[in-house]
Amino acid sequence: MSMDAMLQAALAARKNAHVPYSGFQVGACLKGKSGKLYAACNVENAAYPQSQCAEASAIGVMVAAGEKEIVEVLVVAESPEPVSPCGGCRQRLREFAGDGTPVHLCGPDGLRRTITLGELLPLSFGPSHFR
Ligand code: THU
Repeated sequence: MSMDAMLQAALAARKNAHVPYSGFQVGACLKGKSGKLYAACNVENAAYPQSQCAEASAIGVMVAAGEKEIVEVLVVAESPEPVSPCGGCRQRLREFAGDGTPVHLCGPDGLRRTITLGELLPLSFGPSHFR
C-alpha cells in the first residue's frame, strides 16, 4: 500500500529524468522517518562524470526539506534485471539509513525484489564511526 505510493512518486519523477546520453530513466523515492516521501530522477550532464543518480537527487530533496532519516528506499527502472543502487549511492544512502533499511527494486509494473541496505553494503562505514 505505502510502497505503492512510493512507486507512483518515483515513476512520476522518473518521467522527468534528464537522460540524453544513456536514455536510461531512473526514479527513486525515499520515505523519511516522518512518513513523508521524497522522489527524484537521474540528471545527466554533457560532461558525463558530472551526472547524478536518482538516489542522490532524492537525498538532496529530502535534506532540503529538513529530514535526515530514511526508513525505506525504492528505485524504479526498466531493465531485464532488477536495478539496484550503484556503489556510490549505497554509501550515500548509508549516511541517512541503517543496515536494516529495506530497498525496493522495482520495474515500471511493480516490485521485483526487496533487499536491505546492509545486504547491499555490508560492513559499511557510516556516521556511527565518528561517535
Ligand atoms: N542510475 C541511477 O540513477 N540510479 C541507479 O541506481 C543506477 C544508475 C543512472 C545513472 C545514469 O544516469 C544512468 O542511470 C545510466 O547509468
